[in-house]
Amino acid sequence: MGIDSCRMIELPRISDSRGDLTFVEGGRHIPFEIQRVYYLYGIPVDAERGGHGHKALHQLIVAMSGSFQVVVDDGLRRRRIHLSRPDHGLYVCPMIWRELVDFSVGAVCMVLASNFYDETDYYRDYATFVAATKGQQ
Ligand code: TYD
Repeated sequence: MGIDSCRMIELPRISDSRGDLTFVEGGRHIPFEIQRVYYLYGIPVDAERGGHGHKALHQLIVAMSGSFQVVVDDGLRRRRIHLSRPDHGLYVCPMIWRELVDFSVGAVCMVLASNFYDETDYYRDYATFVAATKGQQ
């Protein structure tokens, strides 16, 4: 897969004088069914979140409020993506190391995930992750 598979997905947006409405349907707007939603808030501006990879999990990361940067890394290359729009989500496929940095004041990060929380799906150590991408793990 690799970082080229990580892409920005434009979500539907319905806007009128009352404001904007965005919705996400699993398997239709994003390439996986949604089993879990979690969100980060109350984030200090100098905080670094993420710092892990997933073996099998698919995710969509959305800046619901404010902005932040997502660094995606497939063990060979890394790319930094700015998120600031609640109607756009960054799709992150399995076997990608990600770091979330440069949070604005009051940023809220929502993540849609393809499975329940499972610590055995995580790579928490970068060297172990890189070894796994080379089939050495
Ligand atoms: P952590 O992986 O450090 O969060 P981040 O991805 O922002 O770096 O998770 C912090 C704690 O929350 C850790 O003990 C695992 C727990 N957690 C759950 O229990 N369920 C979840 O869905 C998530 C994402 C984390």
